[in-house]
Parts: sequence; structure tokens; C-alpha cells
Amino acid sequence: MRKPIIAGNWKMHKTRDEALQFIYAVNQNVQSDEVIDTVVCAPDVLLRCLVKRQGDYVRIGAQNMHFEEQGAFTGETSPIVLQDTGVKYVILGHSERRAMFNETDETVNKKALKAFEHELTPIVCVGEALEQRENGTTNEVVDAQVTKALNGLTNEQIKEVVIAYEPIWAIGTGKTATPEMANETCGYIRTVLEREYGKDVADAVRIQYGGSVKPHNIKELMSQEHIDGALVGGASLEPESFLALVNYN
Ligand code: G3P
Repeated sequence: MRKPIIAGNWKMHKTRDEALQFIYAVNQNVQSDEVIDTVVCAPDVLLRCLVKRQGDYVRIGAQNMHFEEQGAFTGETSPIVLQDTGVKYVILGHSERRAMFNETDETVNKKALKAFEHELTPIVCVGEALEQRENGTTNEVVDAQVTKALNGLTNEQIKEVVIAYEPIWAIGTGKTATPEMANETCGYIRTVLEREYGKDVADAVRIQYGGSVKPHNIKELMSQEHIDGALVGGASLEPESFLALVNYN
């Protein structure tokens, strides 16, 4: 049995005051982490204030980090600093970073390796563009993204990784992949994991779906065999909708 994991990705939203209001509204109202993992991935400057107020069962994540620990990398965030801040998760390879900030499978892989050195759990994002979905190469695309991202990790580390399947055409568009479609690709990702690392690893890895997940569709998505959680943008911004997602069951 894989424990569900629902993570909000705030992207570049919220001021400090708004972040504080949010965390006070949710941190007493989520279920125990024995039942579900609840994560809020916030902009870097808000991480410390959120970690201090995260309560017993909310955990905080970053949305990116550098693969080097320190050096002349203006504007970047060190994994050392994330660890020191008390962050537990880090999103890697989100499609917005791949499209706008030169993130590649290679940099995602370096970051995943580095994350484990600093006790950070990577949420590795994969997913196809609309054109790839339409020309039938979705499986090929996610296969390459998954295997390159995980290259060099031990099987024990891979079991801890969270994979977020986010079809790019479903992000922020209101177009959700149907639960069956999302499950099919998440299931394919699990066969890739089994082929590469064996059944016990494939059975352990949690795979999230992301892309227009809302309170009205969370239950059906979560009822799918291979969907173990959600990575949520828009609907993670307000306490009411975020709570409706993490308390879906
Ligand atoms: O990482 C979450 C994301 O990209 C999905 O965003 O707004 O479609 O839920 P949204």
C-alpha cells in the first residue's frame, strides 16, 4: 500500500502575509501523516516562515534548487540552504522550468542525486506536450524522462522518489486528462520502473498526477490504481480548496 501524497505547487504566488494566513488555516486541519502526506511547495523566500508554522502534519517543499552546493551561481538556491531551512521536499524538472529556464533531464538527474545528499525528497516532474500526445509518443517521452532523471540513484533512493506525471497540455488549462488517461500513463511509468529497477521498487514509488486537479475531480483521480497523489497548482492556493484536496477521502 502506497501512502497518498498531495502537494501544492504555489509557483510564483503569495506574499508573506498571504502565506501565513494560508498555513494557519490549514495546519490544524489536515489528516495525520500516517494516512496521507500533505506538502506545500512555496517560493524560496517564504520557506522559512512556512517551516516554522507547518504544524504536525504539513511539510514544506521548494520548487527548484541548484545541483551545486555553493559557488558563483547568481540567483540560485543551494541544497544546503534548503536542508538547513527544514524543507523536506523539492520539485525537480517542472515543465515550466524545462520550458523557460533550461532545465534538462541531465540537470534534473544531478539535482535528484544531490537532493538525497541533503535529505530532501525529490518530486520529479515528467510529462508530454500536446503535440507529443497527439503524435503518439507520450510513453517514449515519459520513459526517457524517468530513466534519465533516476540514473545513478540506488534502488532504496528510487523508492523514496515521488514522480509527478503532468501532461503539459493539462497544466493551468482546465483540461484534465481523464482519470483513465492519467492512470494509463502513470501505469506505464510503473512498468518502466519495473523494467529498470524491479517489481519491489516499482510497487513502492508514488506517482502523482498533476494538471487541473480540483476538488471536484480529486476523488476519481485518486481512485485510479496507479495514481498515488496529486501535484496541484491553482487549486492549492486557497485554504478551502487545498483542504478539500488533502481531505478528499
Ligand atoms: O505543478 C502543478 C501544476 O503544474 C498543475 O497546475 O494549476 O493545472 O493545477 P494546475
